[in-house]
Formats: sequence, C-alpha cells, structure tokens
Amino acid sequence: MALTRSQIEKKLSNGYLDELLELWQTEQGAAKRRDLDLMAAALPFPVDARLRVLDLCCGPGDVGRSIRARYPHSQIDCVDRDVFLISICIGVNRREGISAQDFVRDLWDADWHNGLRHDYDVVATANALHWFDAHRVADLFKDVFGMLRSRAVFLFAEPACTEKMFAGGFAEWKSRQPARYSRGNWERFWTRANEILGYDHTKLLGSQHSHLDEGMPVSGWVQALRNAGFECIDVLLRDADGVILATAKP
Ligand SMILES: C[S@@+](CC[C@H](N)C(=O)[O-])C[C@H]1O[C@@H](n2cnc3c(N)ncnc32)[C@H](O)[C@@H]1O
Repeated sequence: MALTRSQIEKKLSNGYLDELLELWQTEQGAAKRRDLDLMAAALPFPVDARLRVLDLCCGPGDVGRSIRARYPHSQIDCVDRDVFLISICIGVNRREGISAQDFVRDLWDADWHNGLRHDYDVVATANALHWFDAHRVADLFKDVFGMLRSRAVFLFAEPACTEKMFAGGFAEWKSRQPARYSRGNWERFWTRANEILGYDHTKLLGSQHSHLDEGMPVSGWVQALRNAGFECIDVLLRDADGVILATAKP
C-alpha cells in the first residue's frame, strides 16, 4: 500500500537519502552538474544576497541546492506533485540546514501557486516543463511571471528540438554524441526506491507521457517567454539534448 508523505519522510534515513541522490545523479546524466553550475553562476546577484528562490518541479531538489551552494543565505522553496521525490528534497535540504517551504502541488491545476510567494527573486527548473503541452507551458510562464518581483530571474534547462532546416544534420551529429539518459539508470533509481518504500511508486507517478518531449524548438521557448511578458531572454547553453534559457522580469 502507498505510504503517506509523513511515512515516506520518516522512512528516508540519511543512508537512503545519499543512496537515492547518487542514483538520481546518475539517472540525470553527466551533463546535469554542468547545467546546474551554469544556472547558479548566471544569476546576476551578489553572493551574500538573501534570495527567495523557487525550485519548480523540484524532484529531489538538485536545482535549488546548486543555487543555495552559491547563495548560502538564500531561502529555497520547492514545489512538486510527487510526494516521494519531494520528500527526498525535503530530507536533504533539512539535513543541510536549508530554510525552505515545500508545496505538494500539481502544476496542471490552475491554482497550483496559491499560498506561494509572489515576490521571488529567482524561479528555476530543470527537465520538468517538457511534461506539459505548449498551451500549459504558456500559462505556467504567465504564472511564473506573476510570482516574480521586478528584475527577478527565471531560468530553466529543458529538452529542445532543432528548426526543420537544420534538423537532418543536427540529428546526424547528435547520433554521434554520448546519450544523456538510459532506461537502465531510470530503472536502477526506481527499483531501489520501490525496495525502500515497499511498493511500486512508479504506478503513482501519473502519465509517463511527456507532452512536449523534445518537440519545442528554442524559438518556441523564447516566444512563450516573450508572450508571458519576459524581456532580456538569453540562451545560456544549447547542446545535443536541450537548452538552458535565462530571462528577467522587467
Ligand atoms: C525529471 S524530474 C526533474 C526534477 C528536478 N527538477 C531535477 O532536475 O532533478 C521531473 C519532475 O517534474 C515533476 N512534475 C511532473 N509533472 C508535474 C506536475 N504536473 N506538477 C508538479 N510537478 C510535476 C515530477 O514529479 C518530477 O519531480
């Protein structure tokens, strides 16, 4: 039988947290560390700033903690719909003395942001927006815009496809690059998670169907940001799998 959030949090001893984090890091691919370092490095604030940060679709919380590593006085709030993944995030953040508020919310719900701040300095996310369709992404960008103070930053790392004109050559080049993800690494993470929990949590993850997957070109992400009101949009990085974009609220 599925466990409640407090039962999961009790179960996740330090040993389990470390083991799961290591499996998660492997599952997320070797380039993830670079992506997170870049996202934290790009933030245009002094390192002693007390930033209010939201780790959107936090999962186990890599994104927020990499920002906290550069901005140790910051508060890192977290939101995710999955109680198990957010429990890892909460457990690790608590252990590391990170002040945070956490919210179990489904971002398909229009009111997902009720009760969260509307003066964040930073909203950041990785590998999560592609679970939504383009229409929902457009709305989520408007929600994020409304949750930021003026001059605050929104940044994300997501899959992106290539414009049709360049798709053939890009795909040929990509086929010669090391694959970022492997089914085996995903299964290793979830097999261990299920052993620890004592039931098959993957059945509760919701649809395993990624709506956008790699279907959004960089120009699509940029346009959706512009439509939401963002300005000063920059591509921090583009590689075989995706793109890292940073933008600011005017
Ligand atoms: C691939 S994981 C990435 C997690 C984290 N951002 C990271 O980089 O490690 C995708 C995350 O998005 C969350 N997610 C997917 N759909 C969601 C939804 N509708 N509402 C809230 N969270 C969602 C999942 O629960 C999962 O934690």
